[in-house]
Amino acid sequence: MCLTAYTAPMAEMLDPHCDLLLVGDSVGMVIHGLPNTVGVTMEMMIMHGQAVMRGAKQAMVVVDMPFGSYEGSSEVAFNNAARLLKETGAAAVKVEAGPQVAKTIAYMVERGIPVMGHVGLRPQAVNIDGKFRAKGRTAEEREQVLAEARAADKAGAFAIVVEGVDEALVPEISAAVSAPTIGIGASAACDGQILVTDDMLGIFDWTPKFVRRYANLKAEIDKAAAGYAADVRARRFPAAAETYSLSKARQARVAQGDKRG
Ligand code: KIV
Repeated sequence: MCLTAYTAPMAEMLDPHCDLLLVGDSVGMVIHGLPNTVGVTMEMMIMHGQAVMRGAKQAMVVVDMPFGSYEGSSEVAFNNAARLLKETGAAAVKVEAGPQVAKTIAYMVERGIPVMGHVGLRPQAVNIDGKFRAKGRTAEEREQVLAEARAADKAGAFAIVVEGVDEALVPEISAAVSAPTIGIGASAACDGQILVTDDMLGIFDWTPKFVRRYANLKAEIDKAAAGYAADVRARRFPAAAETYSLSKARQARVAQGDKRG
């Protein structure tokens, strides 16, 4: 059971329920308002990774490697992954496992970095794909997703996130790999599931089809903010019990010039 987390209090709330907390690069869109994950930096992942580590008690914490931090060469990838683990204290990193990345996964795993792969809909490839869209609808795409999963598995990925693929492809992926599969927009047949926490909490008006909402926090927040604004404007807040004031005895002592109050 996995969810994303980006902050210490959210990690603390989710931790008792989760085997794994992912500090996803979705943080760029969810928290920083970016249009996609391409603009996410190492510094952002480190800052949010540190926050989540402060809140997580028992769940394994995995930090996403941002776009541009691992594709150039295996050496660059290793250095960035090592920095993420050293500076956050997280247990592992995740990479989007496109065709060229398998050798980098092997390089990092051989040097002591646990790596999770991510196949199918790879959000960091949005500028190649043109938009976020489910994969595996053509024979060529199915073969490509299978090849990505096989390569990540062979390279030593300890688990593989399978995102946005035709449901019928999942049994084939599961049969082709030995690593556990973690589905998102994939199938209940995956070994585990992950969702972006803010999606399932109902923070956004729009969510992808595969999200199930377990709460409607946007409406709750709207109601709370409107209630607070109305109370402040009508001077109903703060009430006496929400202010600091001197007791009658202390008021009297102060009036008599007692400096101790
Ligand atoms: O960045 C992220 O949150 C992810 C999950 C959607 C798997 O990669």
